[in-house]
Amino acid sequence: MNVLAIESSCDETSIAIYDGQQLLAHQIYSQADLHAKFGGVVPELASRDHLNKMKPLIDSTLNEAKLGLSDIKGIAYTAGPGLMGALFVGAALARSLGWALAIPTLGIHHLEGHLLAVMLEQTKPAFPFLTLLVSGGHTLLVQTDNIGQYQILGQSIDDAVGEAFDKTAKLLGLAYPGGAHLAKLAEQGNPRRFRFPRPMTDRPGLDFSFSGLKTHAMHTFNNTEQDQQSRADIARAFEDAVVDTLLIKCRRGLKQSKLNRLVIAGGVGANHQLRQTLKAQLDADVYYPRQSFCTDNAAMIAYAGYQRLNCGQHHDLSINVSPRWSLEDLSPLC
Ligand code: KG4
Ligand code: ZN
Repeated sequence: MNVLAIESSCDETSIAIYDGQQLLAHQIYSQADLHAKFGGVVPELASRDHLNKMKPLIDSTLNEAKLGLSDIKGIAYTAGPGLMGALFVGAALARSLGWALAIPTLGIHHLEGHLLAVMLEQTKPAFPFLTLLVSGGHTLLVQTDNIGQYQILGQSIDDAVGEAFDKTAKLLGLAYPGGAHLAKLAEQGNPRRFRFPRPMTDRPGLDFSFSGLKTHAMHTFNNTEQDQQSRADIARAFEDAVVDTLLIKCRRGLKQSKLNRLVIAGGVGANHQLRQTLKAQLDADVYYPRQSFCTDNAAMIAYAGYQRLNCGQHHDLSINVSPRWSLEDLSPLC
């Protein structure tokens, strides 16, 4: 069964086709340049751009797969969490196509997509495993017993880690979205010049907090000569503190859940230092998807959508999206 997937939860328009064995085609159009001059995503502009780009992107993805619309037997779309208007564009097109083609359509949880993206790789974990899900909007430690069986063990009480990366990058004068730019700048930084706090590691528990770290970076920046080396040193101290904090919490999470496999998922999972450190320092097998499957993409929605559509799940014709939606509310597979 060929499943066509649509991702439009934030500022990437992406389409993929997956047949249960392999990804037949996958395309991503990033709106990053559109939002860069505003220093963050402008929701109304995001919706309009999804509307302009989605139909041509579906055509070119079908071309890439050498398929026509009549070869598609199911449609999956991101139904939340995310920006309301952006989600609606994908949901409306998915439902309309599903109705016109008389095929089942299903709304997928964006974070379930991130969580399962690793399953598209050659090297993938067996269930159960612990997932560190780090993106622009979420920071979660999730006990992942199977598809649809998720237990949140810890989460951020304020900023998501990607959000903290982006805000600190903005402070340092880097372009939006700043996570990858900050990581690049940090490579030139001196790791001994500043030491930033490791938030919420001095007390038990698996929750996170990153807004204080961002404020610490701001105070350091304001009290330092703002030359290029200082910027790099601050970037380095910030990245070291984030990675160290995530390492401590993952170690705790593995111990508490008695699991010995860890999956890193979400946009910040593309961070090289985070991947290397968790792999080297944890007493567990560590898995992660390729970098382009860490940041927002439709391949992960196609994978999750295929699993659910293939066992008969689908929704009626109403166009439902859920800007706020917990992973724990999902149903098991069959
Ligand atoms: O998963 P994602 O594409 O979108 C959300 O669902 O939020 O994550 C985007 C986040 C942004 O905050 C971006 O700065 C961050 O992932 N990011 C990185 C890196 N690449 C992307 N953060 C740190 N290091 C990176 N290499
Ligand atoms: Zn995402």
